[in-house]
Amino acid sequence: EDFERWIRGAPKCELHLHIDGSLQPRRLLELAKKNGVALPYASEADVEAACAFTDLQSFLDLYYHGASVLRTEEDFYHLMGDYLAVCRSERIVHAEIMVEPQTYAPQGVSLDTVMAGFSAAIDDASRGWGQSVALILSFLRHLPVAEALAQLEAAEPWREHFVAIGLASAERDHPPADFVRLYAAARERGYRLTAHAGEEGPAAFVRDALDVLGVERIDHGVRAVEDPALVERLAREGIPLTVCPLSNVRLRVFDRLADHTLPQFLEAGVAVTVNSDDPAYFGGYLTENFLALHRELGLAIPTARRLLANAIDASFLSSAARARLR
Ligand code: ADE
Ligand code: ZN
Repeated sequence: EDFERWIRGAPKCELHLHIDGSLQPRRLLELAKKNGVALPYASEADVEAACAFTDLQSFLDLYYHGASVLRTEEDFYHLMGDYLAVCRSERIVHAEIMVEPQTYAPQGVSLDTVMAGFSAAIDDASRGWGQSVALILSFLRHLPVAEALAQLEAAEPWREHFVAIGLASAERDHPPADFVRLYAAARERGYRLTAHAGEEGPAAFVRDALDVLGVERIDHGVRAVEDPALVERLAREGIPLTVCPLSNVRLRVFDRLADHTLPQFLEAGVAVTVNSDDPAYFGGYLTENFLALHRELGLAIPTARRLLANAIDASFLSSAARARLR
């Protein structure tokens, strides 16, 4: 009760959120109807029932199908606007949001359409209530690196909107080493660097994301626990992990939240942060992730304060902007 009141009121940062993962069932059904996209779901309850995932791929199948209903600038405006309204109501004062243009390409939706909608929603939120947002240009690792490089080039007109690049989608069979050229090109263009690693993939993928891609932080990274020397290195080098507790349970990385290794990382001194990943599909936004940790793992206020501070420090904001959030 005390914890709940405190976490709802505390200013929070979210560093790991896929904008398509915030597509709410109601909006999904509305846009499918408007744009004439056939979906095998008649109601919000049907969509929620489909969210009983067995692994990452079973989720990704629904996630990409869901995102295929987005077609017009207005659709993208509403998607971003819906999430930023949640930020306002949950006191998520700064959000780093992954945008994945390759997801919309099969429907013939251009980056101009996507970014016109997203940037208008961000402008409204920033003028409306001072919302702070940074966008991460995220690539899909099940697609070839040559396509990612072409997308990086195509994003140049929107370069100023993106602070970093990321790497998401199916991790198995798609190791970091496949994307060396992408990360080298992005580094040359001044992007900050992050990547999903060690979610379904092994600890070695976390090490390779650091050594081969040169990333500054790791999305998920929870399987790094399988390599104690790597955990020690993450702590020593101050490499942050953007951990997503409800996501990990829904995608069966852990059977139950009580089995989550977040406490071990904290104990080892790793800069862990808490995030929601794909909140519309995983049963809760950022606050709900903290509440679940409180209920299932006994997370208390002092440790939660550390997690919130870690997220400010791990953000891609300037040091002046980070100081203002502290
Ligand atoms: N895309 C959206 N959510 C993801 C996740 N949890 N892992 C990999 N790719 C994703
Ligand atoms: Zn993710």
